[in-house]
Amino acid sequence: MSLKKNTIVLLTSLISLSRAQDNFSGVNYAQYVNPLIGSEGPMPGQAFGGGDIFVGGAVPFGVVKFGIDTYETNLTLSTINGGYTPEGLVTGVSLMHESGTGGAPKYGIVHQMPLTTITSPVNILDNTTYWQRRVGNETAQIGYYSSTLENGIAIRLSAARHSGIVQYDYPPGEGHVLVDVSHYLPGYDGYNSQDFLGGEIELRDGGQQYTGYGQYGGGFGEGAPMRVYFCGEFENAPDQAQTWRARNTDPYLRQHVFSNEPYGMPTYTGNVSQQSGFLNDRVGAVFSWTGTNSSSSSVVSKIGISFISVDKACTFKDDEISSWEVNDTASAAVDEWNTDVFSKIQVPLDASQNETNIILLYSSLYFMHLMPSDRTGENPLWESDEPSFDDFYTAWDIFRCTVSLYHLLQPDYYEGMIRSLIDIWRHEGYMPDGRSGNYNGLTQGGSNADNILADAYVKGLRRGINWTAGYQAMVKDAEVVPYNTFSPLDMTGSVKEGRGALFDWIPLGYLSVDGSARSLSRSVEYSLNDFSLYQVALGEAPQDAQKYLNRSAQWQNNWSHDAVSVNTTPEVFTGFLAPRLQNGQFNLSGYNPALCGGCEWDAITYEATPFEYSFVVPHDVETLVAFMGGAPSFEARLDYIFRPNTSQQNLGANGAGITTIMNIGNEPDFATPYLYHYVNKQHKSAQQSRSLANEFFHNSDYGVPGNSDAGALNSWLLWQMLGLYPIVTQPVYLLGSPWFGDVNVTINNNSTLRIVAHGLDDASASYYVQSVVVNGRNWTQNWLQHTDVMVQGGTVEFFLGTNPVVWETGPPPPSPGHGGVPNPNGTYAMAETIGYKRLKRRDLGI
Ligand SMILES: *[C@@H]1O[C@H](CO)[C@@H](O)[C@H](O)[C@H]1NC(C)=O
Ligand SMILES: *[C@@H]1O[C@H](CO)[C@@H](O)[C@H](O)[C@H]1NC(C)=O
Ligand SMILES: *[C@@H]1O[C@H](CO)[C@@H](O)[C@H](O)[C@H]1NC(C)=O
Ligand SMILES: *[C@@H]1O[C@H](CO)[C@@H](O)[C@H](O)[C@H]1NC(C)=O
Ligand SMILES: *[C@@H]1O[C@H](CO)[C@@H](O)[C@H](O)[C@H]1NC(C)=O
Ligand SMILES: *[C@@H]1O[C@H](CO)[C@@H](O)[C@H](O)[C@H]1NC(C)=O
Ligand SMILES: *[C@@H]1O[C@H](CO)[C@@H](O)[C@H](O)[C@H]1NC(C)=O
Ligand SMILES: *[C@@H]1O[C@H](CO)[C@@H](O)[C@H](O)[C@H]1NC(C)=O
Ligand SMILES: *[C@@H]1O[C@H](CO)[C@@H](O)[C@H](O)[C@H]1NC(C)=O
Ligand SMILES: *[C@@H]1O[C@H](CO)[C@@H](O)[C@H](O)[C@H]1NC(C)=O
Ligand SMILES: *[C@@H]1O[C@H](CO)[C@@H](O)[C@H](O)[C@H]1NC(C)=O
Ligand SMILES: *[C@@H]1O[C@H](CO)[C@@H](O)[C@H](O)[C@H]1NC(C)=O
Repeated sequence: MSLKKNTIVLLTSLISLSRAQDNFSGVNYAQYVNPLIGSEGPMPGQAFGGGDIFVGGAVPFGVVKFGIDTYETNLTLSTINGGYTPEGLVTGVSLMHESGTGGAPKYGIVHQMPLTTITSPVNILDNTTYWQRRVGNETAQIGYYSSTLENGIAIRLSAARHSGIVQYDYPPGEGHVLVDVSHYLPGYDGYNSQDFLGGEIELRDGGQQYTGYGQYGGGFGEGAPMRVYFCGEFENAPDQAQTWRARNTDPYLRQHVFSNEPYGMPTYTGNVSQQSGFLNDRVGAVFSWTGTNSSSSSVVSKIGISFISVDKACTFKDDEISSWEVNDTASAAVDEWNTDVFSKIQVPLDASQNETNIILLYSSLYFMHLMPSDRTGENPLWESDEPSFDDFYTAWDIFRCTVSLYHLLQPDYYEGMIRSLIDIWRHEGYMPDGRSGNYNGLTQGGSNADNILADAYVKGLRRGINWTAGYQAMVKDAEVVPYNTFSPLDMTGSVKEGRGALFDWIPLGYLSVDGSARSLSRSVEYSLNDFSLYQVALGEAPQDAQKYLNRSAQWQNNWSHDAVSVNTTPEVFTGFLAPRLQNGQFNLSGYNPALCGGCEWDAITYEATPFEYSFVVPHDVETLVAFMGGAPSFEARLDYIFRPNTSQQNLGANGAGITTIMNIGNEPDFATPYLYHYVNKQHKSAQQSRSLANEFFHNSDYGVPGNSDAGALNSWLLWQMLGLYPIVTQPVYLLGSPWFGDVNVTINNNSTLRIVAHGLDDASASYYVQSVVVNGRNWTQNWLQHTDVMVQGGTVEFFLGTNPVVWETGPPPPSPGHGGVPNPNGTYAMAETIGYKRLKRRDLGI
């Protein structure tokens, strides 16, 4: 089936702005969502190399993401960051999850596990004695998940904002529910693992209700301890309920207790409550329905959670979930997703449309609305009237094109996110790059919250945001070296927050390879961060603007005009980011920009090669083109990175199955396929980006090329489908080539952006832009300003055909960072004389 061609009759009246419906139109878009896209990697049955997505019940940006937790026995291939894996063994259901994250698992907490027996060989302390395979088919829908365990227990669950509901249908015989407060998703080494740090559980009403809290730390962000309160209730009182405690055998980093010793057996004390102090015993409870009735029976449970108190957790449970029918909660979730998310992008849904594309569209919207978590009113750390968000996991992933969609589609949530970032600075000293479990960390590159703020600022987002404070928070990132937390990942500087290599950046004017880890990737990121300061300074502190514009050019000090590509014959490309020493010299001996030495935290570049990062200067592509030898060689270098078998670096799970240097599975390269725009070859951007999307994004379990990263990959696909691409920190969108003949996007709550594609026919490769009309005017440049169509709404019409043509005659997209003059200083001796000294471990005696 090919896309229906050109059924949209262009009427001049379309051009007048149309008002979006204030109301959900009644279309059930949720039916087009496939919540399993990204659940599997390239190896069937394995999550490894896949999207690491959460699967289960959730509402948009919900605190609770309720789903199964699994364990994969082959640790070499194991990734359980979202809890769910295709064939992993079920160790329980739990209320808190991340979605799409790499690194190490976080959460998988506030647990229940239905069991048919609790006696030997089952030991409730040892999940290997009770974990279960799944049998038959599972169902994953918006707000709903169901599956059947090998022991015959069927699980159906759904979630509201701070609470979940689950029904267990047991086979004939007794039924039990284990609540293990010490349960969390495990990591695979001592460094990455979470810890259980003590908790409490108390039975109420003979076990029909239970309350308490658990404390956890660790995980990807090197998280500090946090406490989560819970309040559970069963529809029918159990016949028996008993609390238990047991020795804690978790292997804590530095504070290990009884690790390496056997689990032992739980102690049932007969007390209605069990408390466990910091680092102390595991605690939990078992609820049993042992009635003589031998026919199968059901147990339904609701659980609320809160970061503030048991009372709040109980209130959420009661207020958010009033019915004992799982499907009532599921229906409410579907309504919320349709109203607040899916109905904001309307495409034709009739039978003549390509349904795969419709599924990719609404599924992508779903995945980019799972994180961050809106914890407004649930901040346990300080008193504030500001909104509170957690699970920025991470800004490094979402700054590039995800937040630009929040800006248009979710102005209320987005305002809240930005105010929350600023509030974190106000109360903790720095905005986060990554944050989860109420704790800043980890920072992979620059201080990329700066980019989020700048992107919002230049597009005019003001509302309730205190931009005086926002700019102060950015200046902190730009000027104050964060305390070095000496993470085992990187001893050279902080990876918790801020910019850990400012001690190089400010006095040297570049990042030195002998001073800072990830010097080349962080060089381009710090440059963009400083450009962000420039953008906001123009409005908030004009006296600072020139300084930050100059600093935004410092990537040029990490650029060697002599560095050449290796093993790329017959082509040879000259001019790359290259390792530079503290003494000012470049070290090009043996340097191959297509290699990064693993691309990890201690490498010269992070999760991509210098070859790729040498394209990542979105604020000054004009200089980049010049540095690469002018437009023709810039274009030739772009062509080269799309050629198969050009990759020389094995990126492991971050580059699974990708043989080009171009790696759309990881964020640094997101804007690269669109760079042809800057030499007025829009047709090549359209062709390359579309072909990446077609090759790597599918309506299948292995449907995204790597971790979806809190929906970052999904948002890249959404822009591709809309035929636009945002240039972060600038009020600029590049014109691509849409995937639908007609799209209405509700922006800013009540305006409509209409995108029309005439002549679209993928089957005959009729997707090359022949001409563009914006708001009824012929358009000669390949880009738009935010104000053209993104404020009041507007119409963009693409006229598509089969010929790749240079249709644009106007100026290429802007390079507003052009003209910055980088700090000409640049030796370590200079740095020392002006007082920047690296703090070494030996300075601290460690
Ligand atoms: C629908 O679009 C997808 C690309 O997203 C394509 O692979 C598929 O062939 C199309 N289906 C039909 C029936 O044209
Ligand atoms: C939604 O529609 C209903 C009935 O059609 C109407 O009563 C209600 O006011 C509408 N809500 C908004 C926000 O327009
Ligand atoms: C785990 O997976 C790896 C990679 O496929 C394989 O080499 C290894 O044999 C597996 N280990 C076990 C215990 O199955
Ligand atoms: C599972 O789904 C497949 C494909 O839809 C179907 O053929 C099969 O019968 C289902 N199995 C069960 C146990 O429902
Ligand atoms: C389950 O058991 C495994 C193996 O002992 C352990 O590593 C893990 O931490 C336990 N918990 C979960 C939630 O998987
Ligand atoms: C119940 O708890 C109290 C205080 O925590 C403790 O002193 C007592 O021994 C416990 N009772 C039993 C039967 O374990
Ligand atoms: C509940 O929802 C599931 C999944 O949509 C569906 O299969 C089931 O029939 C529903 N049950 C009821 C009683 O509506
Ligand atoms: C977009 O809005 C226009 C004007 O209201 C309408 O005519 C058109 O059918 C809409 N298209 C879609 C796909 O909803
Ligand atoms: C905005 O933030 C600034 C700087 O932190 C502070 O002095 C000022 O009181 C804030 N304004 C409002 C209205 O809160
Ligand atoms: C559109 O929404 C904005 C707030 O998002 C509001 O200020 C404005 O009055 C609304 N305009 C109309 C015409 O409803
Ligand atoms: C717009 O372009 C079309 C086709 O290229 C041309 O016929 C028309 O005259 C142009 N309109 C204006 C206002 O320039
Ligand atoms: C260069 O170094 C000198 C110290 O010798 C310092 O005063 C000056 O501000 C530096 N220049 C820049 C642009 O940072």
